[in-house]
Amino acid sequence: MEFATIKGFKDILPHDTALWQELEFSARRILNVFGFQEIRTPLLERTELFSRGIGQETDIVSKEMYTLQDSKGRGLTLRPEATASVVRAYIQHSLYNDNAIQKLFTIGPMFRHERPQKGRFRQFHQINAEFFGDPGPKSDTDLIVMAMSILDAIGLDGLTLHLNSLGCPDCRPGFRETLSTFLERKTDLLCEDCQRRSKTNPLRVFDCKVEGCHQAMVNAPSVIQFLCTDCRNHFEGVQDFLRVLDIDFVLDPQLVRGLDYYTRTAFEIQTDRLGAQNAVAGGGRYDGLVRLLGGPDHPAIGFALGAERVVSLMEEDRVKEAKRPDLFVAALGEKAEKICFKWVTELRRSGFTAEMEYGSKGLKAQMKRAGRLGAAKVLIVGEDELAANKGILRNMDTKGQETVALEDPIAELGKVLQGDER
Ligand code: HAM
Repeated sequence: MEFATIKGFKDILPHDTALWQELEFSARRILNVFGFQEIRTPLLERTELFSRGIGQETDIVSKEMYTLQDSKGRGLTLRPEATASVVRAYIQHSLYNDNAIQKLFTIGPMFRHERPQKGRFRQFHQINAEFFGDPGPKSDTDLIVMAMSILDAIGLDGLTLHLNSLGCPDCRPGFRETLSTFLERKTDLLCEDCQRRSKTNPLRVFDCKVEGCHQAMVNAPSVIQFLCTDCRNHFEGVQDFLRVLDIDFVLDPQLVRGLDYYTRTAFEIQTDRLGAQNAVAGGGRYDGLVRLLGGPDHPAIGFALGAERVVSLMEEDRVKEAKRPDLFVAALGEKAEKICFKWVTELRRSGFTAEMEYGSKGLKAQMKRAGRLGAAKVLIVGEDELAANKGILRNMDTKGQETVALEDPIAELGKVLQGDER
């Protein structure tokens, strides 16, 4: 085949879109309940927005961005995540003037030139929520509960909430220094990237998946021991609120996240069913980012849920099942075909999923198609039934058949099908 999707990009095919719609529908409902409003930002932004926002030394900025130049030689980048764009919009449109608390969400594709593997793509989709204007810890908890509620609403279980605090510009430098010293002693064990990271951005070493680096970090100092009083109180506040709401969590001092803007709370919701790509959602507080990108000194916290990963868990949990038609109408003869076509159309107008054959086929072929579609019931109508204002209704699950009166066909069929839904 001459044309196919490029590596790391994929089509979402009809048998999967039902799950995507279900996820997006549930997410929108819950985001709405928690008071979040939708924002849609462009997919392409100035490169500097991401390099400054996410951090030069992160993998995302240093090696994963899809960057191009416009005709004037300015760098433009396909968004690798949504937070920097939403912050840019928050500042550009002074959204804080409308309301000191702004809760915004956005859903759409992100682009990272990573090595594709199970659960990792180069174009992937996020459901992304950002909460501006409250220093927490209640807003931290609110946001975490919302992320868990979205996953709960679609029936996912076996998920674990991992929680950490990354401190603030007051206390993190102390931790960084101690970690750097610790890493100096481990240089031999570290991969080439981490040898560099241990000098430029030592926290990133926690994120490395290379086995040697993993081993090197087993006895690494814990950020929790370095938290200042305010950060410690904040972190304890988040944990207290989570306990009040009966949300289980695991304290994970090695959780650092792959983006540099985080301060204090960092969290991930992880599954053990996706191999190495085990985070279905991740986020945290980023109290310095609005100011870093040229806005006022406003606190914020957010998270993003990876739609591909969630959908693949939904897929595993459910038998893939196309929507079953409520009724298949098998019409025999030209006259019956015409009238039944009208009935099918009217049933659809009343909200029932009804199907019939498009060409003229015998009963056997029509029953076969009804079976393939998984129709719950089949109405068989030939010339004789038509003349008697009747039809034969076959229950495809029980295989039972009965004759039904069709004096007022749409009302009568509506009653039968409605009865099924109850
Ligand atoms: P992130 O951890 O980079 O955070 O991404 C969030 C989620 O997106 C991940 O937990 C994962 O489920 C999904 N994800 C990330 N990369 C890929 C990929 N290559 N393929 C498939 N899924 C992927 C952020 O993006 C932050 N902006 C989240 C945030 C919002 N923090 C504050 N506000």
